[in-house]
Amino acid sequence: MPRRPPRKPDPRLDLSSHLLPLAALPEPFDPATLFRAAGPVELEVGSGKGLFLTSAATAAPDRNFIGVEIAHGYARLIAGRLAAAGLANARVIHGDAGFLVGRLLPNACLAGMHVYFPDPWWKARHRKRRVLSEGFLHQAGRVLAPWAILHVWTDVEEYFHAALAAARATGLFEPPREEEAGEPNHDLDYRTHFERRTRLAGMPVWRAALVRSPAAATVVRTTATASVTGSPPPRTSGSPDHRPGPGRPRADRAAPPPASDSGR
Ligand SMILES: C[S@@+](CC[C@H](N)C(=O)[O-])C[C@H]1O[C@@H](n2cnc3c(N)ncnc32)[C@H](O)[C@@H]1O
Repeated sequence: MPRRPPRKPDPRLDLSSHLLPLAALPEPFDPATLFRAAGPVELEVGSGKGLFLTSAATAAPDRNFIGVEIAHGYARLIAGRLAAAGLANARVIHGDAGFLVGRLLPNACLAGMHVYFPDPWWKARHRKRRVLSEGFLHQAGRVLAPWAILHVWTDVEEYFHAALAAARATGLFEPPREEEAGEPNHDLDYRTHFERRTRLAGMPVWRAALVRSPAAATVVRTTATASVTGSPPPRTSGSPDHRPGPGRPRADRAAPPPASDSGR
C-alpha cells in the first residue's frame, strides 16, 4: 500500500534552521555544531511524523535531538513541527540514516539513539534494506558513547529478535533490557505515531534498551559509498549506479524509499 503523502507544513514557516539536507553536511560531521547550546546529542532514526522529536525536545530542553528521515515530505513535516514549536534543541536531517551513521558521524558523539517502528521490509529479497542490520548496529555502537542507550521498539516480533541477535553479534552492547510503556495521559502521549496506532489497535509492541558497553569499538567509520542500511534504491531506475562518488551528486543520501513492500 503506498503511503498517503504527508501534510505540507505551513508555507509561512521558515524551515531553514530546522531542516538540513544530508548532502550539505561536512564529512566528518560533529552533530554538536548544529546547536547553539551545548548538551548531549541524541539521534532518532526514521522520525516519521516527528512526535518523538517534538515531545522529547520539549521535555528535555538541556539535551539536543536530531532526527534523520529519508522521505522528503516527512522531513519537511517534522521541520514544520519543530519550527512551529520554536524548538532550538531539535533538527531534522533529510537523508539516509545508514550514510549519516556509517560515514559521517565521528566515534562516541551520541548520548542516545532511538529506532522506533523501522520499516520491516517483509519480502526476503528486500530484507537487506532493513535499517537494523548488523552492519548498521556496528556503526551505531561506534557512534554511541559508552553507556549511551539505543532504544529499539517495533510491532514486528521477528524483526525485534533479529535486531537483538545482530546487536549481540557486534559485541558492543550489554544484554538488552525490556522497556516499559507508560499509560497515556492524553491522545498524543505515546512515544511515536506508530506506537499510538499499534496500541490503539490492541496489538503488541516489543521494546528493548541496549546499553553501549565500554568495550572499544574496533569498527571504523566507513568510507564506502554504499549505505550500511543497504539503503533503498531511488524511485527512478535510470542509472544503475546511484551511489555518490567523485564528481557525482550525493543524490542517494536523500533517496526516498520505494513505497511498496516497506510494510507501512
Ligand atoms: C514505519 S515508519 C515509523 C516512523 C516513526 N518512527 C514512528 O514510529 O511513528 C519508518 C520511518 O523510517 C523512515 N526510514 C526508512 N528507512 C530510512 C533510512 N534508511 N534512513 C532514514 N529514515 C528511514 C521512513 O521514511 C519512515 O518515515
